Amino acid sequence: MAYNLLKGKRGIITGALDENSIAWKVAQKCHEEGATFTLTNAPIAMRMGEINKLAEETGAKIIPADATNMEEVTKLYTESMDVLGGKIDFVLHSIGMSVNIRKNIPYTELNYDFYQKGIDVSALSFHKLLAAAHKLDALNEHASVVALSYIAAQRTYPFYTDMADIKAMLESIARTFGYHYGKQKKVRINTISQSPTKTTAGGGIKGFSDFYTFADLQSPLGNASADDCALYCVSLFSDLTRMVTMQNLYHDGGYSSTGISTELIEKISGE
Ligand SMILES: NC(=O)c1ccc[n+]([C@@H]2O[C@H](COP(=O)([O-])OP(=O)(O)OC[C@H]3O[C@@H](n4cnc5c(N)ncnc54)[C@H](O)[C@@H]3O)[C@@H](O)[C@H]2O)c1
Repeated sequence: MAYNLLKGKRGIITGALDENSIAWKVAQKCHEEGATFTLTNAPIAMRMGEINKLAEETGAKIIPADATNMEEVTKLYTESMDVLGGKIDFVLHSIGMSVNIRKNIPYTELNYDFYQKGIDVSALSFHKLLAAAHKLDALNEHASVVALSYIAAQRTYPFYTDMADIKAMLESIARTFGYHYGKQKKVRINTISQSPTKTTAGGGIKGFSDFYTFADLQSPLGNASADDCALYCVSLFSDLTRMVTMQNLYHDGGYSSTGISTELIEKISGE
């Protein structure tokens, strides 16, 4: 059911790679809720052309941009404002990549070039998205910027290796930039800490499938799906959450507040 929550709002959505991507679902829900937006991804990620289907479905223009490249990010805003006809009301940062995870390198033996690449792509890109908008004064008052995070920023998940550190940085950028941008322009900046979700980035993690089941059994409501995450993003982009900023918001079916569930105890004890 749609509520027209984003009617008249203009946005930029990063990170829709294929129909499993969280950003893909966010784009669909924002469209349903009446928003207009541009879609962007790294030029290399567009080779498969999947994003064209989403652009057609949602009436969005695609503006390729490598999120690590300040010039391309700046152009993303100027072109978006041009295409959409004014300043931007919401931005989704849905970008993550770790070469160390892809190559199964343990945390104690991280490759530092890969580590730096991971920081650049998955955390500094968020700062760049915010800094470019700030410099251009591209965001309307009370605009909402959301990035996607994971609870490994607070608790240790050995398989998440360098991304744990990188997500901690991402969440810190949301708080710190959120302070400055909030003071100056009332722009709000939050991170959503999402359940494990079956996507290309998620599936790249060793043992993901078992861990997905573990988290599902641990959470009273079960794992939050990508569709549910999209609804949460819509609420944060809407005027209903005008005063929410600088927060890391758990969207995980209650996982983060649960010590252990009876289902997991039964599994371990074999009852
Ligand atoms: N899947 C999960 O279990 C899970 C859980 C919590 C948080 N997240 C986060 O959600 C976000 C989206 O991931 P997803 O699970 O939808 O996977 P996904 O693989 O569909 O999305 C990741 C996106 O990042 C893009 N990207 C990579 N390098 C880029 C660059 N240089 N410039 C621009 N874009 C670039 C990719 O092309 C891709 O579209 C990530 O930040 C991820 O860490 C995922």
